[in-house]
Amino acid sequence: MAGLHAALATRLQVGFDTVAPGWDPVLRPSSQAGTDFQANGALSLAKQMGQPPAELAAHVLASVDLQGVAVAEVHRKGFINLTLERGFLAASLAAAASDPRLGVDSVEVPWTVVVDYSAPNVAKELHAGHVRTTIVGDALCRLAAFAGHHVVRENHIGDWGTPFGMLIEHLVDIGEELGARELSVGDLDGFYRQARAVFDASDELKERARRRVVLLQSGDPETLRLWRILVDESMRYFSEVYHRLGVLLTPEDVVGESFYNDLLPGVVAELEAAGLLVDSEGARCVFPPGFAGRGGEPLPLIVQKSDGGFGYATTDLAALKDRFGRLRADRALYVVGAPQRQHFAMCFAVGRQAGWIPDGADAVHVSIGNMLGPDGKIFRSRAGEAVKLIELVEEAVSRAAGKVQEKSPGLSADEQAGVAQAVGVGALKYGDLSTDRAREYVFDWDRLLAMEGNTAPYLQYAVARIRSIFRRGGIDRSAYGSGRVPVTLDGPAERALARRLLGYEAAIQGALETWSPHKLCTYLFDLAGDFTCFFENCPVLRAATEETRDSRLELCAHTAAVLAHGLALLGIEAPERM
Ligand code: ARG
Repeated sequence: MAGLHAALATRLQVGFDTVAPGWDPVLRPSSQAGTDFQANGALSLAKQMGQPPAELAAHVLASVDLQGVAVAEVHRKGFINLTLERGFLAASLAAAASDPRLGVDSVEVPWTVVVDYSAPNVAKELHAGHVRTTIVGDALCRLAAFAGHHVVRENHIGDWGTPFGMLIEHLVDIGEELGARELSVGDLDGFYRQARAVFDASDELKERARRRVVLLQSGDPETLRLWRILVDESMRYFSEVYHRLGVLLTPEDVVGESFYNDLLPGVVAELEAAGLLVDSEGARCVFPPGFAGRGGEPLPLIVQKSDGGFGYATTDLAALKDRFGRLRADRALYVVGAPQRQHFAMCFAVGRQAGWIPDGADAVHVSIGNMLGPDGKIFRSRAGEAVKLIELVEEAVSRAAGKVQEKSPGLSADEQAGVAQAVGVGALKYGDLSTDRAREYVFDWDRLLAMEGNTAPYLQYAVARIRSIFRRGGIDRSAYGSGRVPVTLDGPAERALARRLLGYEAAIQGALETWSPHKLCTYLFDLAGDFTCFFENCPVLRAATEETRDSRLELCAHTAAVLAHGLALLGIEAPERM
């Protein structure tokens, strides 16, 4: 079933096609009281054609199917305002409620979407800097999968390169057992720092580390075995953090830097054959067009260093080729921090030059703004150290537990713990997701956990409150919210709520269009607001007639269903009671 929004857009499209085939009608829920939808496409089209917008809009409207539309009028500026018949709105609502997908169609042409996210480095802490890429990436995976795309998660962990010489020798020095333990319990920074300290102070270790790197590169079995310990134990710890955070990533999703190792010489050879390689100060580089340094000099992407070694960029070129080649990606998303913008822009440009990104396919740097502390600087602990992700999760849950104890003393201890987990983790995730991902974000516990405003606890509470209406009234909730109970939509608050509920599909499409989960957050927050307005104006359990009461209960159940579903798409649970 196509959602109401999509159905209306299709009808308007017919009108626009008579003037300019394929022209976007730009249909939006109306912000004006008294009308339901607004289409703005005629404004831009009129400008392009040099025609009066209102005249053009009227011409477009003449070929639009207006079944179910009570009033269609053209504003003098060229907007088309549509006001729907109450019955049509109610029928659309019932259709959405009865649909297990809540009125959200699957995409017609599913893509293969490869999502590269989280990507911590082996034997280095999963720290606050990875929070956003992990959480945003995970929400995008859930959203894209729900929309009907084929999603391939890839955790591009840093598990290769020169530091491994040092790390392996340190493992040998302190003993495998102790080393493995330190890593698996999450003392990654401790392990790394210790290794680094010894390395810096000892020429002997530096020499051993150098030899170890050569052994690693040449595939020496004993060296690989030691390397595996570092990778597996770090991964064991990362998985534990993912589990606590309710993130989909598993060890099966790991396709780390080492995976591409054997492909690197081939990548270089291919670039060479394409005539793209240039020798520059002993290194082999590609100079993609359009990239210049401060002084206007062309910028190189270094593919092979002067010592013959490969670097981060070479690995990313191999990954790019692999994602569009072997995995046949239509979209390859790189959910990675904003500071790597230029790196990806250059890799993608080289990938295009080399012909690795097929026509119609695209690589996207889903750029993530830095997480800042209250002082406006990169988020750090009081002692100035990077904050471990797991510590953030723990603190979120313990802060939430305090709130739950205060707000919901009636729940059993077990229930309180469950709610605290959902609220704490939810707040942490939602704080991230509700801010435009590309923007910097100031981390602030009080804001994340506030019961008012665009926060997870507010939305979770909204769901619990709706469910409690049914409990209080001793009403079987399962009879409502699946489109079987007629909805009457008498007043403006009910109508506004209905219109919002019908906008769920458009909200999801909007979020996916720019890979921006915050658009779904905004929608859910608006929905909760419309619900509050409805609830304040329209008595439910004390409605004047049974028919009205049922209609309103249906709206309540439908709203709770959409809120809980939307939160789930963001990776956030909605507790039954709070
Ligand atoms: N490991 C890198 C880091 O911690 C992120 C890798 C992102 N993905 C990629 N394909 N380069 O900065």
